[in-house]
Parts: sequence; structure tokens; C-alpha cells
Amino acid sequence: EFKHLVFSGVQPTGNLHLGNYLGAIRKFVALQESHDCIYCVVDLHAITAQLVHDDLPGQIRSITAAFIAAGIDPKQHIVFNQSQVPQHAELAWIFNCVARIGWMNRMTQFKDKAGKDRENASLGLLAYPSLMAADILVYRATHVPVGDDQKQHLELTRDIAMKFNMDFMAKIRAAGLGTDIVVGDEPVHAYFPMVEPMIEGPAPRVMSLKDGTKKMSKSDPSDLSRINLLDDAETISKKIRKAKTDPDALPSEVEGLKGRPEADNLVGIFAALSDRSKADVLKDFGGQQFSVFKPALVDLAVEVLAPVNGEMRRLMGDPGYIDSVLRDGGARAGARAEKTMKEVRDIIGF
Ligand code: ADP
Ligand code: NA
Repeated sequence: EFKHLVFSGVQPTGNLHLGNYLGAIRKFVALQESHDCIYCVVDLHAITAQLVHDDLPGQIRSITAAFIAAGIDPKQHIVFNQSQVPQHAELAWIFNCVARIGWMNRMTQFKDKAGKDRENASLGLLAYPSLMAADILVYRATHVPVGDDQKQHLELTRDIAMKFNMDFMAKIRAAGLGTDIVVGDEPVHAYFPMVEPMIEGPAPRVMSLKDGTKKMSKSDPSDLSRINLLDDAETISKKIRKAKTDPDALPSEVEGLKGRPEADNLVGIFAALSDRSKADVLKDFGGQQFSVFKPALVDLAVEVLAPVNGEMRRLMGDPGYIDSVLRDGGARAGARAEKTMKEVRDIIGF
């Protein structure tokens, strides 16, 4: 059996929003008590969709500050920046040769991000899931907290791990590496674990405040569609008051949210922010109008986000400290990644 290890990453692109916080960063914080955790600012991913950035160092520091402000302890766990550890890119190349073109072509995120002019998307955007698999598996991590939008990429990570394990099984054994696991009903002598996604919760996918059928995203051109971690109380209040809703009162049961994506989204956000289930929230607000529910949501969002916002701003005023956290984390991550890569080179025959 593989030792439990958590890995996850966030891209240093654009403003962090409530979806990133509830879908990812807040889960990172909770897992620290029970797991060994590695959290990464994935800057190599940031150049897949857009090659040139105005201030990549500033963006990297801002994500790092958000991690620490939210409550991640960089001494107990590891916080670092992907490009500091070249083993990620080295393993991604090997995974490019493990993965099949057809697997990549099926990824819905690639189709969304590439848009109509697919021939003109970067090759890196197509190969993105291969690098993501390498990020996780270079540490042989077993658990990955992410939003629901990353589910398909994690399935691909399992496919890559499985193909590597099967294709190299004899060599893995011959090198005295790997461990016996069962996948489905099949016994496998595995070098790489089958990662477990951690997606559960009342808001696995936080939706846009302007359109309940689209995910809240950094790349949405409308700033009113998302709550940014750096928004002040007044801005949060304005965005929630202007959020799209329907004219009906809230239902008293979760089933009543079916077919009402905007109501479902706001109740899910309330539940996630207050660590409750949607059913529980509806016990309090069922039968109430949005004119009552929205102000309560504003108060809750401000109460939860204001301390993170304040601490993030304070940390961003101390870039020397942020850089020292990244240097220390990078050195520790690099040592662990190199241990895996030595073994992988050995298995392949390099
Ligand atoms: P984005 O998708 O905004 O560009 P990233 O790709 O860097 O952000 O994602 C960082 C983390 O935030 C991932 O775990 C992703 O699943 C999560 N995430 C992003 N958007 C949402 C959302 N709307 N709801 C829930 N989780 C999300
Ligand atoms: Na994403």
C-alpha cells in the first residue's frame, strides 16, 4: 500500500476567486491535520493558455500569500513553485510518451480553452493533463483535493499511472521497486498509485453569479460573475446583491433546488462557507425570499473572507518572506521529486 500523501496546485493566473477558495484552498487547509501535504503554485501550467504574462513573479507570490493567509503551514507541509523543480517537466515528458493523443483530445477543458481555433492552441495546452499527472505522481501522491472541473484530468492521471505500471511491470519488479495493490479486481504490482480525487462538499463546482450554468472562473470577462479573494466587503455585498436569481422563495428541501441553478449555487455557497449541508441551510431559509437570504449570505461571505483578505495583503507587502517560503519549499520538494525520478529513469533504462 502507498502512504497517504496529498498534492494539489493552483495556477498563478488572474485573481483567485471564491471557486478556487471553496473548491481547493479551503480543503488544503483542512487536510493538514490528517495528512502530509504538498501544495504547488503551478506556473508551468500558466503558460499553456497565454505565453507572455505581465508580472508572473507577482502572480506567483500572490497565490503563495493566499495559501498562507488561508491557513496553510509552510513549515509543517510543503509550499513551492512548480518551475523550481524541473523533475515535474521531466516526468511530464515521459508521460507524454505514455499517454495517447486520443486521451488528450477527449478532455473537455482543452475543448473549452482552445475554443474554435483548435489548430492554433499551444501543444502545451493539449498536453496539460500530462503535466498535471506528473505534478502529482512525481511525489507518488495518493489524494488530490480539487474542484469538480478537474475530475476528468484526475481520471486521466489514473490512466497514465495504470499504463505505466502495466507496461513496465516486469522492469519495476526487476528493479525491486513498486508495491502490490488491487485495481478493480485486478492485482497490480504498481510503481505509481491510483490517485483518489477529493471533490465532495456542498459546492463542488461554484458557478458564476451572472449565469448559474457556467463555472465561476478567473477568465470570465465580467468581474460581477465572481467574488475575488481580494474584494473588499462593499464589493462582495454589491456582487451578491446583483447576483442573478429567480423570483421564487427558497424551497425547504434540497429537491426543490432542481432546475433552479442560481438558487442552488447560492445555497451551496452558503452551505460551504458555513460548513453545513444544503439541507441544513434550507431548514433556516426555506420559504424565505432572496431579499432575506442575500443579506445573510453577504454577512457570512464577508465574515469568512475578510481575515483571509487582510492577511493576504499583509503578506504581499513582505515579498522577501514569500520568496524564502518558496525557496525552502522548493528545496524540500526537489529532494523528494528527485528520489522518484532516479527510480523512474532506472525503470525505463536511462
Ligand atoms: P481556474 O479554473 O479559475 O483557472 P485553476 O485552474 O488554477 O483556476 O484551479 C485551481 C483550483 O480551483 C482547482 O482545484 C480547481 O478545480 C478549483 N476551481 C476553479 N474554479 C472552480 C469553481 N468554479 N468551483 C470549484 N472549484 C474551482
Ligand atoms: Na481549472
